[in-house]
Amino acid sequence: MEKKIYRLGIIGYGGMAGNHKKQLDKGEVRVKIKGVYDIDPSRAELAKEQGFLAYSSAEELLSDSEIDIVLVATTNETHMYYAIKALEAGKHVICEKPVTLSSAELEKITEAAKKAGKIFTVDQNRRFNRDYINACRVINSGFLGKPYLIESRVEGSRGVPEGWRTDKSKGGGMMYDWGVHMIDQIMYMTDEKVVNVFCKMYSINYPDVDDNFRLTLTFESGFTAHIEISTNNFITKPRFYIYGKEGTAVINDWDGVGKAVKKLKEDNKWGREIQPVKAGPTKTMAPRDPSTLETLELTEPQDVEDNLNPVYRQLVDAIEGKELLIKPSQAMRVVKVMEAAFESDKTGEAIKTNI
Ligand SMILES: NC(=O)c1ccc[n+]([C@@H]2O[C@H](COP(=O)([O-])OP(=O)(O)OC[C@H]3O[C@@H](n4cnc5c(N)ncnc54)[C@H](O)[C@@H]3O)[C@@H](O)[C@H]2O)c1
Repeated sequence: MEKKIYRLGIIGYGGMAGNHKKQLDKGEVRVKIKGVYDIDPSRAELAKEQGFLAYSSAEELLSDSEIDIVLVATTNETHMYYAIKALEAGKHVICEKPVTLSSAELEKITEAAKKAGKIFTVDQNRRFNRDYINACRVINSGFLGKPYLIESRVEGSRGVPEGWRTDKSKGGGMMYDWGVHMIDQIMYMTDEKVVNVFCKMYSINYPDVDDNFRLTLTFESGFTAHIEISTNNFITKPRFYIYGKEGTAVINDWDGVGKAVKKLKEDNKWGREIQPVKAGPTKTMAPRDPSTLETLELTEPQDVEDNLNPVYRQLVDAIEGKELLIKPSQAMRVVKVMEAAFESDKTGEAIKTNI
């Protein structure tokens, strides 16, 4: 028997929805766009030219009984409103990140999904990126020993794209734009609770929003994640830097290319005399004997589907009875960490958490 193709209705047909379209056009998942609704008539016009229905209101889209799934891809402050309306109309929902601007909003969506008996998921597509998957693989391989610190950085120098991303009331700023992805990635690596959140945000070029930030999360065991998002850094640092007890890894770029270096044996015998080295009079920072190290080159993984397919597949699977991979409960933890980050920035203090 032919497997069901699910009909998608899109609310908010902007840049990211266009990206969903490009991926879905390839026909690699059982989801097909039927129509869209956007408050901007030019986007509705574009949808028509592309052969889709352009509904005149969200209500009209939601009352179309052929629509199985609704993608909410509007600006961030409207996600809760549309997600709840869609669930109440009996649709499954995939919502763009950040799922909501507060945990209270997400709580309401979760209740609506429960009541409707429909699947609600979030487009945390960066769980499926090559750079992240290589970072997870090198950690899980055990090569580094027990990791105690991971640094995750995303850096640009071109500022924040004009429009709603510079407007706080619309959910602008880098915490909601990129922070949400980076926090989700780290929290997906471990089941440990976050017990401490410290964040320093900057508004270097856009006074209304955080256009750069530094965030430190501490987990129960002491494992720490340091997340940096920059829009004003002209010298890019590596994407991931991972410190383990036995070794260190660097993932340089989005392809996941980098290296891991671990100690084969200790090199910790020091004589009493300090030898002259480039670092000056120091024993601690004197260069190591390279023969005590092993290096592993990390190359681009060829088996990773670095696009939106995995997000749609897990949604279709969940509709058909399998376990949902991107769960509202996970999104809730991320939103709560973001709330603590904003509070930390406001108060200048580290926030004790149990997330
Ligand atoms: N997962 C990712 O990697 C990723 C990447 C980029 C953007 N996003 C998310 O996608 C969403 C949209 O971002 P974008 O970059 O496409 O922005 P965009 O401005 O290009 O698109 C937003 C669209 O929503 C429409 N819109 C706004 N308010 C509306 C309303 N009340 N009702 C109906 N339509 C409305 C706008 O007219 C616009 O066409 C955001 O939540 C953003 O965070 C996710």
